[in-house]
Amino acid sequence: MSFQSNFLSLLVALFAVFASLYLINPTPKFLNNFTYLSLTTLSPSNIYLAKPLTCNLSRNHHHRPHKKHPDSGNDDSICDDFPPGIPPPNTNTTSYLCVDRKGCCNFTTVQAAVNAVPDFSVKRTIIWINSGIYYEKVMVPRTKPNITFQGQGYSSTAIAWNDTAKSANGTFSSGSVQVFASSFIAKNISFMNLAPIPSPGAEGAQAVAIRISGDQSEFRGCGFFGAQDTLHDDKGRHYFKDCYIQGSIDFIFGNARSLYENCEIVSIANPVPVGQKSINGAVTAHGRVTMDENTGFAFVNSTIGGNGRIWLGRAWRPYSRVVFAFTTMSDIIAPEGWNDFNDPSRDQTIFYGEYSCSGPGASTGLRASYVLKLNDTQALPFLNISFIDGDQWLEAYK
Ligand SMILES: *[C@@H]1O[C@H](CO)[C@@H](O)[C@H](O)[C@H]1NC(C)=O
Ligand SMILES: *[C@@H]1O[C@H](CO)[C@@H](O)[C@H](O)[C@H]1NC(C)=O
Ligand SMILES: *[C@@H]1O[C@H](CO)[C@@H](O)[C@H](O)[C@H]1NC(C)=O
Ligand SMILES: *[C@@H]1O[C@H](CO)[C@@H](O)[C@H](O)[C@H]1NC(C)=O
Ligand SMILES: *[C@@H]1O[C@H](CO)[C@@H](O)[C@H](O)[C@H]1NC(C)=O
Ligand SMILES: *[C@@H]1O[C@H](CO)[C@@H](O)[C@H](O)[C@H]1NC(C)=O
Ligand SMILES: *[C@@H]1O[C@H](CO)[C@@H](O)[C@H](O)[C@H]1NC(C)=O
Ligand SMILES: *[C@@H]1O[C@H](CO)[C@@H](O)[C@H](O)[C@H]1NC(C)=O
Ligand SMILES: *[C@@H]1O[C@H](CO)[C@@H](O)[C@H](O)[C@H]1NC(C)=O
Ligand SMILES: *[C@@H]1O[C@H](CO)[C@@H](O)[C@H](O)[C@H]1NC(C)=O
Repeated sequence: MSFQSNFLSLLVALFAVFASLYLINPTPKFLNNFTYLSLTTLSPSNIYLAKPLTCNLSRNHHHRPHKKHPDSGNDDSICDDFPPGIPPPNTNTTSYLCVDRKGCCNFTTVQAAVNAVPDFSVKRTIIWINSGIYYEKVMVPRTKPNITFQGQGYSSTAIAWNDTAKSANGTFSSGSVQVFASSFIAKNISFMNLAPIPSPGAEGAQAVAIRISGDQSEFRGCGFFGAQDTLHDDKGRHYFKDCYIQGSIDFIFGNARSLYENCEIVSIANPVPVGQKSINGAVTAHGRVTMDENTGFAFVNSTIGGNGRIWLGRAWRPYSRVVFAFTTMSDIIAPEGWNDFNDPSRDQTIFYGEYSCSGPGASTGLRASYVLKLNDTQALPFLNISFIDGDQWLEAYK
């Protein structure tokens, strides 16, 4: 397929996502910049979106173009506003790499920077990623722990791809970004799957934005954009703070032990007409298989809004464990709240708790019988970073 038509379909996909967001978020301040990006930065003359710039730059971009070089043509203007001092010099404990789509620093793709990180480095490598949408599929292998992706804001920096379960040989491989390494950190960046939003019942349409399979991972100020199965919170202990998470069906799923604090959760399931009772989405699908596994999702001080009529969770596996505390829920939450995957035998083993939540979706009067209205003592283990042993590994505690 020609690059031009590739490019056009990408734009269409981008706009599908943005359009759907627009519908549910009347004042999407943060979206202005993605719209801005797709309209200007992604214009066809800027072909560096998906292809490396070849003109005056060396293929590997290990050197920054000289800003004032008389023969450097466009480079002057392209790199003029590139921040000085990026990347900072390496220290004894931290290495820095830089990614810029226009070739103004070390690498033009995130994957190239990841590949340049030595295996099993005991230093942390901070990969500084300039604003823009990086249209690539990224994998951080198990052999590269201790990497940080530092973006410029979740509304201005994103890694996006568009695999689906069908195109990628299964949901688990569809992630635009796949992290198998431990001690991975991401800040101020978005992860997107731009596959078209599936029509109800479509097969193989699951499309993961990120799969997080390493232990001790931390996400601050990040965005997760997709529809079905957006965030594969697969395994390990993870922390999400101040994040934006968008999806429709089971859009936070996996068998990790994770704490979500101050996050904004937005459903893009279709609106359900007044008077209809159909359910068309679920926030979580936690996959705890046995009683012995210490896994679960805890949401604290978050908000749930958007469209559709959805469950807080459904029991993907028999011991599914999810707690919502101090969370504001709009009326898109179905009165019964949760679903046992239509398997009543799971009612004895699932652990679905709610504690001090508010908003029209939080009334527990009509909740399913197995839902736990947690008391103070029961809620305590889920309310802070001790749930994920965060005091032992979060960056702020080191
Ligand atoms: C992803 O987008 C590209 C470019 O628009 C398109 O050619 C490809 O078919 C898409 N892949 C899937 C799985 O939809
Ligand atoms: C959006 O991007 C423009 C241009 O890069 C920048 O000037 C502006 O401050 C950004 N706004 C927000 C809300 O991030
Ligand atoms: C960094 O390592 C070098 C060589 O081991 C050592 O001489 C230097 O003091 C270290 N610098 C700091 C700031 O620890
Ligand atoms: C990245 O760029 C900086 C500044 O130009 C340079 O000092 C450093 O060696 C580069 N690193 C790599 C791995 O290319
Ligand atoms: C990560 O880097 C720190 C030093 O910055 C080191 O102590 C630690 O062992 C590294 N972690 C891993 C998993 O390699
Ligand atoms: C596709 O997925 C199946 C099951 O997960 C696996 O056994 C198979 O090796 C995969 N095929 C390819 C080509 O990756
Ligand atoms: C993210 O960006 C905001 C606004 O630029 C900044 O205030 C904040 O410190 C950044 N956070 C992280 C974790 O990088
Ligand atoms: C709860 O979340 C809101 C919005 O993110 C934030 O302003 C507030 O500080 C948070 N409260 C606590 C106790 O973290
Ligand atoms: C909380 O609930 C547990 C389990 O039902 C019970 O054992 C405990 O006494 C309760 N604690 C309080 C403070 O109500
Ligand atoms: C988390 O809460 C528990 C129970 O209140 C408390 O014992 C623990 O010290 C808290 N952990 C942190 C890191 O604040």
